[in-house]
Amino acid sequence: MSSYTTRKTPGNTEWFVHDRFGMFIHFGLYSLAARHEWVKSREQMPEEKYQRYFEHFNPDMFDAREWAKRAKAAGMKYAVLTTKHHEGFCLFDSQYTDYKVTNTPFGRDLVREYADAFRAEGLHVGFYYSLIDWHHPDFNIDVCHPRRNDPDAEEQDKGRDMRRYAEYMRNQTRELLTNYGKIDVIWFDYSYPDGRGSGDYKPWMLYNGGKGKDQWESEKLIKLIRELQPEIIIDNRTGIEQDIWTPEQVQPTEWVRHETTGERVVFEACQTFSGSWGYYRDETTWKSPEMLIEMLVNTVSVGGNLLMNVGPTARGYFDHRAVRALDVYSEWMKYNSRSIYGCTMAEPEFVAPGGTKLTQSTDGKRLYIHIREYPFIKLYIKGTAGKFKYAQFLHDASEIEFKEKDGDTYFILPILKPDIIDPVIEVFLK
Ligand code: GLC
Repeated sequence: MSSYTTRKTPGNTEWFVHDRFGMFIHFGLYSLAARHEWVKSREQMPEEKYQRYFEHFNPDMFDAREWAKRAKAAGMKYAVLTTKHHEGFCLFDSQYTDYKVTNTPFGRDLVREYADAFRAEGLHVGFYYSLIDWHHPDFNIDVCHPRRNDPDAEEQDKGRDMRRYAEYMRNQTRELLTNYGKIDVIWFDYSYPDGRGSGDYKPWMLYNGGKGKDQWESEKLIKLIRELQPEIIIDNRTGIEQDIWTPEQVQPTEWVRHETTGERVVFEACQTFSGSWGYYRDETTWKSPEMLIEMLVNTVSVGGNLLMNVGPTARGYFDHRAVRALDVYSEWMKYNSRSIYGCTMAEPEFVAPGGTKLTQSTDGKRLYIHIREYPFIKLYIKGTAGKFKYAQFLHDASEIEFKEKDGDTYFILPILKPDIIDPVIEVFLK
């Protein structure tokens, strides 16, 4: 059995740490602008101008089953969809706003189709919900709000009341967790209590120009969620610690630890295929196939999950670049998923040889050596003599012979690297 324990949390993370790999989906009005999901803030776009995306929102090629099938094929076991991003637009049929998908030309409750389709494919269903809201009339103008530099911003800010907004969020959360069946993850985004440091800070801004748990009334929000869906996983971005830590766009090099107690925690790294979460037509920094596999392996090798993002086009399909990236995972996971599901960081007795990463099944019985820099014939793994029973390449179950010398074990590998990214040696431990 794995010797690693993590800090206890209120939700059920058992399935989560087993499944390891999920799909993040950023979809909203910004998908039409096709130049980053922050476009409204970045360009400080007036409400009237942003409205054009609402009026033209019509993803005619959207097919939730197709999304779910692609996620599943890529080896992803759960998904998290933006039910509302910072722009405030709701992809679900909420009774608390008109700014919702059912009032666009598309006219259908997209969240419902998503939840039904992903569940039908056997995937766990998650909802992302933005704490930030650049449309809601009660949301105080702050350092990232699109209206922050309007000449009359201070005037516009008068009469806004975050308490009403917090209630709106609770109402919508109740809808999301009542009307769509069992929801496995709710992913709030995000708190920034220290807005004052920003160049866009103005002295009239309330709450130091930022917002955090007091403005979201996170305590009440969480209490409500636990009443509705006690087992659900809640992220930490409400400003109150719950189930998962969510490092973003970084590759953790060691197991994430609790800020004060130092305990290991359940964590989920989130990453993008290119430099944006929402569909970005002209963005060209798409990660290579090697990097895609590395992100997954790296994360699991330090005990974490990977939530990999797709930003569908405004017509509702995954563009060819995203499909290509997902296919990299499909191809790799088809043969190597055993080194990911039910796996975690290898026990300290195993030290990764240079150019490799290790994962180990949580039952402790199998060690996986992910070979990134393919060695010439011999691969040594220190201090492991007497510990291995049998070894094979994971992708084709072809035997890998090994010998022992001075307390170490070395594998005898074929000179030619198998024609796959990151070949894995599966070692059966004694
Ligand atoms: C950030 C961004 C946001 C994105 C999220 C995903 O907080 O504001 O656009 O949705 O990260 O982790």
